[in-house]
Amino acid sequence: MNIVMLTGAGISAESGLATFRAADGLWEGHRVEDVATPEAFARDPAQVHSFYDARRARLREVEPNAAHVALARLDAEWPDELLIVTQNVDDLHKRAGAKRLLHMHGELNKGWCLACGERFAWAGPMGESACCPACEVAGSVRPDIVWFGEMPYDMECIDAALQHADLFVSIGTSGAVYPAAGFVQTARYCGARTLEINLEPSAGSIFFDEVRIGPASELVPAWVEEILSCSPAKAGA
Ligand code: APR
Repeated sequence: MNIVMLTGAGISAESGLATFRAADGLWEGHRVEDVATPEAFARDPAQVHSFYDARRARLREVEPNAAHVALARLDAEWPDELLIVTQNVDDLHKRAGAKRLLHMHGELNKGWCLACGERFAWAGPMGESACCPACEVAGSVRPDIVWFGEMPYDMECIDAALQHADLFVSIGTSGAVYPAAGFVQTARYCGARTLEINLEPSAGSIFFDEVRIGPASELVPAWVEEILSCSPAKAGA
């Protein structure tokens, strides 16, 4: 049985990382237009860098939670096809040990040089004068984050995985942003069963065969235990 999972900010909430649309969410106090669009970066690169430098620094203060660890265990033990697609730009899935993982919105710990096009690891503050480790040009490095209006990464690969999925599981996302919010409909159209695990019903809950409401750190380990306990043959039933 082939599994595709989509995760959102809700899976990292219990690690202490702010979600986007909760009352204390990240977009509170920050207009998206001011920090997460190419136009914002062209208009005020210092403000955009300081927003992402603060989020990158925060990563060093948090740890993966039981939900990240459970998905990494499933990734390691699942014998059939499996893919974790995350909208998150944090490194918690990776630090929990997930391997079959795609960051469709990019990663905080990466930089992208607009002078030479190279992408590379970047752990510390970036700022406007950051120097590209590849071409050594200063001042043309941006966060390797997919901003509003830009094309998410790995869409062909994600679409192919959804076409072959027998089970699609959405975890900790509000279903507010496309194309991720449309994955459940693609999965259903291609015959997959669909499960949503979220703290509250999302905008797309109606498209899911099953919705489990509660914190990811409790429901995700329980679901992983459940799916690993039934044999792949039975699980495909
Ligand atoms: N366990 C499970 N779900 C949770 C938890 C938790 N502990 N805490 C919050 N949630 C749920 C919320 O109920 C909400 O539905 O996680 C979801 C978070 O929604 P958003 O804040 O909108 O985050 P997300 O869905 O990841 O946003 C998608 O929008 O702003 C862009 O690029 C950004 O990747 C982001 C995309």
